Amino acid sequence: MNFELKPLGAAGLAADKSDLLLYLVGDGFAPGSDALSALTAQALKAGDFATQAGKSLALYQVPGLSARRVLLLGAGDASARSVRQALNAASAALRAPKTARVVLAWAQAPTPEAVATALQGVAEATYAYTLTKSKAEARQLQKVRVAVADTADMRAAVLRAQALVAGVELAREWGNRPANHATPSMLATAARALAKHRNVQCRVLEEPAIRKLGMGAFLAVARGSEEAPRFIELRYEGAAKQQAPVVLVGKGITFDTGGISIKPAPEMDEMKFDMCGAASVLGVFQALAVLQPAINVVGLIPACENMPDGRALKPGDVVTSMSGLTIEVLNTDAEGRLILCDALAYADRFKPAAVVDIATLTGACVIALGGVRSGLFSNNDGLAASLQAAGDAALDPCWRMPLDDDYAEGLKSPFADMGNVAGRAAGSVTAAKFLQRFVKDWPWAHLDIAGTAWRGGAQKGASGRPVPLLLEYLLRHASPPPAQGAAEKPRAARKTRASRTSAAHTPGA
Ligand code: BES
Ligand code: MN
Ligand code: ZN
Repeated sequence: MNFELKPLGAAGLAADKSDLLLYLVGDGFAPGSDALSALTAQALKAGDFATQAGKSLALYQVPGLSARRVLLLGAGDASARSVRQALNAASAALRAPKTARVVLAWAQAPTPEAVATALQGVAEATYAYTLTKSKAEARQLQKVRVAVADTADMRAAVLRAQALVAGVELAREWGNRPANHATPSMLATAARALAKHRNVQCRVLEEPAIRKLGMGAFLAVARGSEEAPRFIELRYEGAAKQQAPVVLVGKGITFDTGGISIKPAPEMDEMKFDMCGAASVLGVFQALAVLQPAINVVGLIPACENMPDGRALKPGDVVTSMSGLTIEVLNTDAEGRLILCDALAYADRFKPAAVVDIATLTGACVIALGGVRSGLFSNNDGLAASLQAAGDAALDPCWRMPLDDDYAEGLKSPFADMGNVAGRAAGSVTAAKFLQRFVKDWPWAHLDIAGTAWRGGAQKGASGRPVPLLLEYLLRHASPPPAQGAAEKPRAARKTRASRTSAAHTPGA
């Protein structure tokens, strides 16, 4: 699916042939002299249409317009949120048969953010999973034309939307693939494919190399499966070598049965999504490869299955992690933290500016925050604020959760340096406290995406979150910020307030 910017006035828009014209109409709409806006004014007056976000009116073969179908869309206050709502209302029309060419047009000049959000909405509605369906049709939508009077301000936004969509769709695709079509070695192949792009490199470690590194916790999880583990290291180098990278660590459990602490059967199929953290890292690298920003990023993915087997890890087993800390595995279903702790230990070798891990880590996070906001945990106020702001801007929000040391009490073990679980209370927090034991002096954040990475029920499937949040965060700090005036000024004040913050959340600086 291709995005194309086209400078079109009212007459050009009317003459432009397409299968579907989406016409976004915001509050305060005033008609011009052209047919489309006159028609819109009529529909508003008759009460058949409203500018409220989410309202729509479908038209067919309108005299004077070359588009076969036209959909008027209320865009409300034209904020990103409203535009997303508008595109949600268009999703059935976008998926209708014979919809290959779509034109997006605005009754009032849009902001670049509104254009980018609309393009994301089009992609969201039209992505289709096909890999394991024998009769699936390929995506019909081929070209999305953005018709605006002035294309100059829009170019960057459209390119960014194209890159983000590619990243989100890669993450959705790998998230959706069944576990027998998305094994650790297949994930590694997907990562290697990204290394064909400029400034992207990939290294894949197999079992002997992983053992040599001492990743005893990761290998303990992997040993219950016939499927061999992989440790994937991606690098994007868009800035000078000496610039410290942001390290992204993605949980890559390609299937989580729970292991010997086996999960109940209902909905166990959804545990194929337990590699959505890993998929989001692949998605971010895909977007970086397209955009080539001036930043350094490392992606780390420990990938394996969590299976019950004669060789599998047993409750009570004590394993030695790469950091040297020993762990009593009280519940083999708390496996995410066991593979992540070794990846966090490994992250230290990159002298990172910041480390962000992304994991479908706990059912408790789903209970706490549902599917709206991802859980955010951080040892650094600046990094937490940056991630939260990036998530809000990208409509991929997260919410900060506490990390008081008192929450770590339950992780004490009589037989090891720590246990891997701490009872039912505050389960997403105690999981984060476990991870924090493996964090060195770098700014660190943990995103628990168990509630946000996929939807269940009738529209079951991966969401591609939190690729939008992560990309927004990385790009905000990619190049030395150009004079942004007021927006950048409060930073000096912030620096004095939070002691450990210093430049930590501005890895590009
Ligand atoms: N992958 C799961 C977390 C999960 C559960 C995500 C349900 C989405 C929906 C994780 O490995 C897990 O099993 N966590 C356990 C931890 C518990 C044993 C302390 C959980 O949340 O029940
Ligand atoms: Mn588990
Ligand atoms: Zn899991």
